[in-house]
Amino acid sequence: MSTTSSCRICGDTVNEFIDFGKQPASDAFVTPGEEAQEFFFRLAVGICQTCDMVQLMEEVPREKMFHEDYPYLSSGSTVMRAHFEGLAQRFLNTELTGDDPFIVELGSNDGTMLHTIATAGVRHLGVEPSGGVAELAATKGIRVRKAFFEESTATSIRTSDGPADVIYAANTLCHIPYMESILRGVTTLLAPNGVFVFEDPYFAEIVERASFDQIYDEHFYFFTARSVDEMARRHGLELVDVERLAVHGGEVRYTLARPGARQRTSAVTELLAAEEAAKLTDLATLTDFRTRVEKNRDDLLTFLREQRDKGNRVVGYGATAKSATVTNYLGIGPDLVSFVCDTTPAKQGKLTPGAHLPVRPPSAFHEDYPQYALLFAWNHAEEIMAKEQAFRDSGGQWILYVPTVHLV
Ligand code: SAM
Ligand code: TMP
Repeated sequence: MSTTSSCRICGDTVNEFIDFGKQPASDAFVTPGEEAQEFFFRLAVGICQTCDMVQLMEEVPREKMFHEDYPYLSSGSTVMRAHFEGLAQRFLNTELTGDDPFIVELGSNDGTMLHTIATAGVRHLGVEPSGGVAELAATKGIRVRKAFFEESTATSIRTSDGPADVIYAANTLCHIPYMESILRGVTTLLAPNGVFVFEDPYFAEIVERASFDQIYDEHFYFFTARSVDEMARRHGLELVDVERLAVHGGEVRYTLARPGARQRTSAVTELLAAEEAAKLTDLATLTDFRTRVEKNRDDLLTFLREQRDKGNRVVGYGATAKSATVTNYLGIGPDLVSFVCDTTPAKQGKLTPGAHLPVRPPSAFHEDYPQYALLFAWNHAEEIMAKEQAFRDSGGQWILYVPTVHLV
């Protein structure tokens, strides 16, 4: 391991354990002709030797990632829409039952979660810095503040709206390096008995599945129960519950509260014990993870080159942020993957970051099925394979690279 950085949570030394080299901002889709202006950084991951927080070694400025043209839409998956509706209903039935309750969502994106809350007539606020998606939420009747959540935003919301019973963030907290400001903001805004709930990819799942493509600029932190427990304590909060989620390749939903406000559930103790038993953050585990990632890289590259040499066509499915790591780490160009299809209008007609694979609408895939489809959106595999059954019926096969390279 090499040592280069200091921990964004506790300030101690971060030891690097994997390096993916030069990478672009993962959602910075390129307009053809503007390739020369791309931004690159070194994508490498390390672990803090004191608080165990797994984090990127280099930080990408937030304005390079989250801006007017940020293309990701939460509503792009039927499964995720149902996931957020279910959680919103749960909040309405549990935490939001008092007199005039109030919920704040960080990274509310196009309003997929808050839509159910707004429809129920419950006081809410989305905090979303990316203008385009924030605007989409506003057109659905959702109250949104276009801003980065940080301490000053929290103070301002507390003044205008009062304390929040729930502060919620999905796939957003792990995107925010400046955690000190965030957690000071949370303690400012949270009601005395309120909860701060967030869900993000679980590091144990990433290690188990060798899902190295969960590592990209926007995913700054890779949480575990142990590191979140430590982080919460350092900021005057307590980890009181954890819940494993199947979405997005395996996540954990963490619940934080003020000390003493809530009883810690047995799920927390069990997950902490499981992580310890698995030696999740031991050097041997991290080294083995790197070895399996390198094998996946080599196997996938060999397979794609063989198909090119045989004259078989491979199309990418889902121009995910994750796919930026895969295509740039492996050096996949249009000779290996002719284009990537994706439902997101803002990605279509552009080139993928760094690798410059053309992005086309799904109709381009349907019009002329290739022999193979490389499933970059593997976290939505069930949903995608069900609706694309005709591809398999045509003799096509899906290529997956997590946990190992295999065909389906
Ligand atoms: N919560 C949605 C979901 O799970 O589908 C969107 C997740 S998207 C991957 C991350 C979102 O976080 C983006 O919409 C981005 O603009 C937003 N974001 C980034 N930094 C933020 C911050 N400091 N405060 C609030 N939102 C932020
Ligand atoms: P995500 O893995 O970060 O959620 O990104 C999924 C990407 O895949 C997003 O760009 C939308 C795209 N997508 C499709 O093109 N078709 C689909 O059926 C689904 C679920 C996603």
